Amino acid sequence: MSALMIESDVVALVQAAIEKHGRNPDAFIPILSEINHVYGHVPGDAFHEICRQIRIPDDRVRVMESQLYGLASFYDMLSTKPRGRHVIKFCENAPCHVVGGKAIWDALREELKLENGETTPDSKWTLVTTSCIGLCSVGPVMLIDDDIYGNLTPEQVPDILERYE
Ligand code: FES
Repeated sequence: MSALMIESDVVALVQAAIEKHGRNPDAFIPILSEINHVYGHVPGDAFHEICRQIRIPDDRVRVMESQLYGLASFYDMLSTKPRGRHVIKFCENAPCHVVGGKAIWDALREELKLENGETTPDSKWTLVTTSCIGLCSVGPVMLIDDDIYGNLTPEQVPDILERYE
């Protein structure tokens, strides 16, 4: 995709998202989510474009851009950086930790040679931690894209990863 295409796509995408969700602050997460869904992350241009289209006064654009960037950085479901084709979200909260989460995390890091937030050089995998996803009863838990894996053991990790192209 050329830079020009990305630019015009961001303009159209932001416009469509604003038409759908509105201009109020409670629309910011849904707007960012729509952009993230299309690109796999929120491109830097999108923050400025959102400000432009919701008509933020010039003297407040920088502050608003950094607030939007802060939202995109804070929420696990959003990313400010391009991610791999498959995203592994590993639950790092205590209930998963006490039933063996650390060993799973170590197995993932070892298998993929990644640290938290990193993407493999071939753009296949991104590894991130996440907060509780509400499946503590089957911890340790991870999500790969939309697939849920519970009651994990370190031995299962290589086999599970092999299922993904
Ligand atoms: S703490 Fe891991 S799913 Fe709840």
